Amino acid sequence: MARFILKDPFYKKAKQEGFRARSAYKLKEIEDRFHLVRKGNTVLDLGCSPGSFLQVLAGMVGEKGTVIGIDILPTPPLPLTNVTTVEADIRETDVLDLLKRFSLSAVDAVTCDIAPNLSGIRDVDDARIEELFASVLKVVDEALKPGGHFIIKSFSTGVQKRIAAELQMRFRKVSQYKPAASRSVSSEVFFVCAGKKETVAGRKSQVTG
Ligand SMILES: C[S@@+](CC[C@H](N)C(=O)[O-])C[C@H]1O[C@@H](n2cnc3c(N)ncnc32)[C@H](O)[C@@H]1O
Repeated sequence: MARFILKDPFYKKAKQEGFRARSAYKLKEIEDRFHLVRKGNTVLDLGCSPGSFLQVLAGMVGEKGTVIGIDILPTPPLPLTNVTTVEADIRETDVLDLLKRFSLSAVDAVTCDIAPNLSGIRDVDDARIEELFASVLKVVDEALKPGGHFIIKSFSTGVQKRIAAELQMRFRKVSQYKPAASRSVSSEVFFVCAGKKETVAGRKSQVTG
């Protein structure tokens, strides 16, 4: 396994270019293709540690933008003035309360790279993925502006269709995308969701700002 990692071109590249994890290249590739994050944006990154998405997002939003990362584990500090991290479990976080601490009512984009602990037992894993997804969706419903964008890592499982349906109710365009940096042996796949709708299945979206 260690040998496999050392041969991995994205692992090597991340080391050379100073990224904390190879997943930086997944987000870069998604952005190169979909162009969702702009200079000056505020972005919430769920499951941010060790911080390679934060490093990439900091460059995308520029010095006038803001990136807020949340992780259940500590995130080693980054020397980036436009990035702040919070240690919290997103399943138990009042996101509106958290945004208030930064004098914000909503964000322009949400990214989520959280992976639940997978057991290899399909029913157990599907339940874990759905539970986590419900918490993430609550954050998106509450904190993402109408017109905002959402990128979430998921896994090809029995619940994939239900997850896609929930996202399609909320966003104008939902694409499934597997970046080259995502290992081919992994079932991971990203949902790239553009343009949050004003209303979700007949009810007004919670964020108005
Ligand atoms: C694959 S890593 C994220 C890597 C990160 N995107 C990067 O580029 O450095 C997944 C992260 O999700 C975090 N996580 C898992 N469950 C969580 C939860 N309930 N709340 C917050 N963070 C969680 C883990 O601690 C882990 O750091």
